[in-house]
Amino acid sequence: MSEFEVTVNSLSETEEAGRELANYLNFPSCVYLNGEMGAGKTTLSKSIINALGYSGDVTSPTYNLIQEYPVTQGIVYHMDLYRLKDASELEYLAIEDLWSNASLFLVEWPDKGGRYLRPANFEIVLRKIFDKNQDKRHIILKSIN
Ligand SMILES: Nc1ncnc2c1ncn2[C@@H]1O[C@H](COP(=O)(O)OP(=O)(O)OP(=O)(O)O)[C@@H](O)[C@H]1O
Ligand SMILES: [Mg+2]
Repeated sequence: MSEFEVTVNSLSETEEAGRELANYLNFPSCVYLNGEMGAGKTTLSKSIINALGYSGDVTSPTYNLIQEYPVTQGIVYHMDLYRLKDASELEYLAIEDLWSNASLFLVEWPDKGGRYLRPANFEIVLRKIFDKNQDKRHIILKSIN
């Protein structure tokens, strides 16, 4: 079921969408972010994390796979699995130990995580829409039960 759906026309509108999306994500949850390279997964994650109460900089976890941010309701673990060669590399991160009632996982490129990830409670899908002058994105949130 789609809970939230929007077409944005600019980077700042994507950021605004992230702030709105933050209201739909309850703790604990695992959120998969799907969309092609450059679709805006990290941009959206940053604004979700800031909206949830972390006021510092949010950087892309491309090299270290996972970054954690204390927020009002607990801890957000932001992951980017693009560089994983094999899902089993996640064993070393012991991500199962990070699960608690106060955890929220935001995972970019979740397909690379295989069985080492928890199933998604939410999926956010971003799609670039090519338009002559604008950098549009279509964003939807699906709640998975
Ligand atoms: N409407 C828009 N929404 C989001 N990003 C936009 C938009 N218009 C332009 N951009 C640009 O597109 C890029 C999106 O990058 P971002 O790192 O968020 O994508 P990503 O999906 O995380 O990519 P990757 O798969 O490489 O991790 C940024 O450079 C951003 O400035
Ligand atoms: Mg990214």
